[in-house]
Amino acid sequence: MKRLSIIIAVLASMVLAGCKSHECAPSALDVIMTRTSVRSFTGDPISKEQLETILKAGMAAPSAINIQPWRFVVVTDKEKIASVFANGFQKDMYTQAGAVIVVCGQTTMMRKPFGQPDAPEEEQPNMFWYEDCSAVAQNILLAVKALGLGAVWTAGYPAMERVAPIAQALGIPENVVPLCVIPVGVPAEDPTPKDKWKPENIHWEQW
Ligand SMILES: Cc1cc2nc3c(=O)[nH]c(=O)nc-3n(C[C@H](O)[C@H](O)[C@H](O)COP(=O)(O)O)c2cc1C
Repeated sequence: MKRLSIIIAVLASMVLAGCKSHECAPSALDVIMTRTSVRSFTGDPISKEQLETILKAGMAAPSAINIQPWRFVVVTDKEKIASVFANGFQKDMYTQAGAVIVVCGQTTMMRKPFGQPDAPEEEQPNMFWYEDCSAVAQNILLAVKALGLGAVWTAGYPAMERVAPIAQALGIPENVVPLCVIPVGVPAEDPTPKDKWKPENIHWEQW
């Protein structure tokens, strides 16, 4: 009885302190400072719920004039992952992943011509698509870390020789470009985060 009341008291204090499970959720700064690229996975699946949480975090990114040009292709089928992504030198990284998220950007947008509010919308280039989508990709990496999973940003645009076969295999339209390919999985390694703090890169007030 005494042990039970201790457990209840501990759980209650965790809830009051904002803890979600037996472990306190790490702070945003902890997640940012401890995120590191993970390139080895157990092969275990990632649930759809987890993937939707990760994508929701991605879509919370800032976006120039709030166009939200991001589009995603999420592949969880092992055979498809192997055939689409495991063609280069890092193939184990993809085949061991539970899912592969291709973060894409739509390079065009529908807008009224500048200064013509009564004109019909027309298709125009969106020159900010890759900035928006880079913010998405970073949010995804941080959400993955916060969920106790691992991931790594692997190059897409502008390495078109890598992008084109992936876009073709996945049926991605011409005005949508894969910015990066992110294998996500249960980590099979625990790399030490790199210390990138270099005060000499900062110019206070003036370069
Ligand atoms: C634009 C970009 C492209 C990258 N491409 C690859 C890649 O193709 N393969 C890979 O293993 N890592 C890739 N990375 C991950 C970097 O190698 C990694 O972020 C860097 O070494 C710093 O390590 P950290 O992420 O653990 O801090 C890429 C990262 C970025 C931002």
